[in-house]
Amino acid sequence: METQILQADAKSVEIAAALLGAGHLVALPTETVYGLAADACNEIAVAKIFDVKQRPEFNPLIAHVTGPEAAKDLVEMTPLAKELMAAFWPGALTLVLQRKENCPVAKLASAGLSTLAIRAPKGETARAVLQKLGRPFVAPSANPSGRLSPTKACHVADLLAGKIPLILDDGSCRIGVESTIIRADGERPILLRAGGLSVEDIEAITGPLIDGTATKSDKDVPHAPGALASHYAPQAPLRLNAISAQPDEGLLGFGDIEGDMNLSAKGDLTEAAANLFSCLHEMDQRFAKIAVARIPEVHLGRAINDRLTRAAHKD
Ligand code: TXA
Ligand code: MG
Repeated sequence: METQILQADAKSVEIAAALLGAGHLVALPTETVYGLAADACNEIAVAKIFDVKQRPEFNPLIAHVTGPEAAKDLVEMTPLAKELMAAFWPGALTLVLQRKENCPVAKLASAGLSTLAIRAPKGETARAVLQKLGRPFVAPSANPSGRLSPTKACHVADLLAGKIPLILDDGSCRIGVESTIIRADGERPILLRAGGLSVEDIEAITGPLIDGTATKSDKDVPHAPGALASHYAPQAPLRLNAISAQPDEGLLGFGDIEGDMNLSAKGDLTEAAANLFSCLHEMDQRFAKIAVARIPEVHLGRAINDRLTRAAHKD
């Protein structure tokens, strides 16, 4: 695939929005770092992000919106969230909130969690693309997993050229580090990631933050991002690499192994990733035990297997 690099202007913003609307990925600047954007409501487009970034697991993504009005359609607002949005949006603050019952954002973006991270970026290009697209995009930092976050278009090109159709270039990102992440679905704010908005600025509005950045062992505080322990796992026990179902099991198929549901009848790993969490949810409701067909350990299959293995080994 040839990667175009276009200077950000009204015309290239329109091209970017059209590509996103058609399910393609676009790298674009925000005020924090360059993001790798996909239509948040298109499961396949969201799955492509994990493929291009070569994430070995499904780390949840941030949905980018124009502001509080757009956020209301996606997540349950809390007084705390409203207060923080009023003070710091648009800006380098991501809020983790409970997804609304019929939140249109792909389940894969939440990695199967009940929560969704949202942020209204301040960068002009990102805002213009959001307005043209007319719905949210998800955007992790535009680097392959484990590499530094890019703050210039040339960084993105070094890392992702040939893998995406378009990079919008708007020079250096003003802030240069990722957004600060606060969990705001309860009464007290919990810091999940330090970032471009200072803790002091936030505490001036909310009072002391609970530190959730190193809480893997602290039972009172929800897990920090990246700790990955809190991903969705079904209630039903999972059996992996199944060829057929036992009498008491439902079978989640892949490719030729049809099953009660199929992650991808044509054996496409991107489609399988896009379907993974919604299939697990539904299978969990329908069956007391779940058997899952073998998923090849390549491309997105690695992330799918990572998630399935963890889910199968939970106590
Ligand atoms: O500044 C930024 O936030 C940039 C720009 C592009 O907006 N984006 C960014 O995304 O840094 P990413 O994917 O590289 O980092 C998102 C972080 C991850 O550590 C992830 O675990 C956490 O947000 N996260 C996302 N959804 C979450 C959720 N529902 N609960 C807890 N953590 C979440
Ligand atoms: Mg990142």
